[in-house]
Formats: sequence, C-alpha cells, structure tokens
Amino acid sequence: MFNVRNVGEGIYWLGSSDRRLELFENAYPVPDGMSYNNYVILDDKTCLMDGIDDAVTRQFMENLDHVLNGRTLDYMVVHHMEPDHCSAIPELLQKYPDMKIVGSQKAVQMIDQFYHLKVDAITVKEKDTLDLGKHKLTFIAAPMVHWPEVMMSYESSEGIFFSADAFGAFGAMSGNIFADEVDWERDWADEARRYYANIVGKYGAQTTAVLKKASAFEIKNILPLHGHIWRKDLNLILDRYAKWASYTPEKNSVAIFYGSVYGNTANAADILSVKLAERGVRDVKVYDVSKTTVSELVSRAFEYSALVFASATYNAEIFDHMHTFLTDLENHNLSNRTVGVIENGSWAPTAGKKINEILANMKNMTVLEPQVSLLSSLNEASLAKLDELADALAAAVK
Ligand SMILES: Cc1cc2nc3c(=O)[nH]c(=O)nc-3n(C[C@H](O)[C@H](O)[C@H](O)COP(=O)(O)O)c2cc1C
Ligand SMILES: [Fe+2]
Ligand SMILES: [Fe+2]
Repeated sequence: MFNVRNVGEGIYWLGSSDRRLELFENAYPVPDGMSYNNYVILDDKTCLMDGIDDAVTRQFMENLDHVLNGRTLDYMVVHHMEPDHCSAIPELLQKYPDMKIVGSQKAVQMIDQFYHLKVDAITVKEKDTLDLGKHKLTFIAAPMVHWPEVMMSYESSEGIFFSADAFGAFGAMSGNIFADEVDWERDWADEARRYYANIVGKYGAQTTAVLKKASAFEIKNILPLHGHIWRKDLNLILDRYAKWASYTPEKNSVAIFYGSVYGNTANAADILSVKLAERGVRDVKVYDVSKTTVSELVSRAFEYSALVFASATYNAEIFDHMHTFLTDLENHNLSNRTVGVIENGSWAPTAGKKINEILANMKNMTVLEPQVSLLSSLNEASLAKLDELADALAAAVK
C-alpha cells in the first residue's frame, strides 16, 4: 500500500514515479517516466527532505502520513525550490502548521515567489547544521546544481549525502531503489548521462566545485532527488560525474550526426562510418538529427570523444535540426572534443562555415582537416576527402 523503504536507521525513502509524463520540464522526452524521491528522518525531531511534483502529490502525502505514524513534522529541508520538488509546500504547511522550513535564503525567497507565502523559515548557509537528535545535517551550498538556491546536506551518523538533483536520472523506478539492486550500468547509465548533460550539463564548473567540497565528507550513501540510491560502488557514479562535469569524454570513438533533406548527406555519414569501421574504430554511432531527440544527441556528444557534424545547407544556413543541436551543445558548454565537418549544398554550400562559427565559441574543440564539401552528392573528389577525414578521425581516437 505504501511506496516506502527503510534506507538507514530511522531514515525512510518515499517514492513517487510518474509514468504518464511525456516531457520532463516540458522539454525532455521521458519514455520510461520519471521518479521523484523524498526522505524522512525520524529522530527526536522529524524531518522531511523536499516536497514533490504536482503529479504525484497525493501519493506522497499518503506515504508521508504512513511513515510519520501519528507524529507531527518538525522540519522540512528544502534543498531545491524547483517545482518538481516543492509543489506540496502549501499543503504541508496547512497540515503541519508548526513545521519549520529549512533552506537557503534564496530558496525561502522563491517560496514566496511561487506560492505567495511568507514563511517563518530557518535560513541556512554553507557549513550550518541542523540537529535532529542522533542525526545531524551539515549544509553544503551547491549553487547552479541545478539552480542558484540549491543546498545539499551531509548526515554524519550514517554518512549520507543528500545530493539534490545531482546523481539523478530520467526514468520511473520500481521498488529496487538501490543502484546495486539493478543492472545500473546496462539499464540506467545512459539515462543518467542524458539527465546530467541536459539538466545540469551547462554547470560543469559548479558541479566540479561541489564534488570537491563533498569529498571532504566520509560519504557512505548518496540519496538523490531522482533515480537510484547509492550505498555500494559509489565510484561508479562519482567517476562518471567527474568526467561529465569536466567535459571529459567517456568513450574514445566517433559519433556522427547528420542533417539531411534528400538523403545524400546521410549517405556520406553512413559511408564515413564504414570507413571508420574498416580502420578499426569500434562503437561508431550514426544519428539523424531530425529523428533523434536533441537531448539524446547532447548526451551522446558528452559521451564520445570525436564528433562529426554533417549538414545540408538550408537557406544559406545549417539545416535547422542540426543548428538547434549545435547551439544546444554551445549552451551546455561542451568542450574538449575532436570534430569532423561535412557540408552539402547544390549551389552555394555554406553549412560548414556556419558550423565552424559555432565551434569557434566552444572551448578546446579541435576541428580536423580536411573538411568535406559535397555538391549535392558524393563524387570521386569528395569521396577521396572523406577517406582523408576517416584517416584523421581514426588517428584521433587511437
Ligand atoms: C529549404 C531549402 C533550402 C536550401 N538552401 C540551400 C542553400 O542556401 N545553399 C545551397 O547550396 N543549397 C541549399 N539547399 C539545397 C540542399 O542543401 C542540397 O540539395 C543538398 O545537396 C541536400 O543534401 P541532402 O541530400 O543530404 O538533403 C536547400 C534546400 C532546401 C530544401
Ligand atoms: Fe532541478
Ligand atoms: Fe529535480
């Protein structure tokens, strides 16, 4: 009846998954739904970690009632004031009028902005603590992971790191809420990367800074607001985050992205992938940017070390979907990649020049020569250039 699990001494996970949701943040497709985690600490004082998304508030309130088992709620820690974690605040304040909200000053200000509520809150900053009895929380400021008001917290008696949005993933969860209860690497790593790259990806420097601060604590468990809880093999996720946050690729191989109207640029992309395979490059991926959701494309660009952008010219510009993808990569601060460029055009191909203009705004992007230009379709001369590009790419990922 209750979607609740015990995750530590007196610490409970309250789970809510939304499998109806089409687009997270009305932007990112979530074919496998979305999970929202909350936690309750029962000690001398009772404390709830964060609110919940509108879609699952009713289930959350039932779960909370069940865990409190007749006790009142003394504290609610607001780590993050984004509505997917705080929609229940007005209802919680009505039900538990003596409940004290604990959050950063910015978070408290946002409660008023969203809900027109002037709450008598306890504002906390870096290194402040909250005593619950046996359990004690220390706050860690985590600005821009994912919003400016974000705090994370460390619970010292059990070494628990409440990490807010960090270490989350897209996808609804079953009762197997611990990463060691699922084949995380096989089934969840891609969605964790797509979540990180798109939601937090822009703020690599801030993520790196908070990871550094967190490393000062003896962390035994990571309890995020979305996705699985980590109590074993923490390095699996910490190593991934260290890479993603520093824009270091995970895979030394080539991802080819094409934007094509009639299929000729697509053909060149596929032929390039064959040439790479023949040169011993493994795990090459080819994506049609019109077909694959841009959030997946961004995620793969975070994963791969070498990226090829192949685009038809469209009204003297980059093909629309490719343009959106490239500006998204620029906005997400993607850097440190090796890049191949292929353009196509029937009278004045200019997509390549435009792609280079965007790449020039990104840090440490090495554009390989030759850049290949097609006139409508591949011919002998452009095929020879494609061979040279394949040589350069294969050498770059050796
Ligand atoms: C709406 C539209 C606008 C285009 N604008 C240009 C252009 O500005 N310059 C150009 O050389 N070709 C332009 N083209 C032609 C395509 O870039 C060209 O036919 C290319 O070879 C198509 O490659 P594909 O077979 O991969 O679609 C345009 C095509 C369309 C449909
Ligand atoms: Fe968020
Ligand atoms: Fe979130």
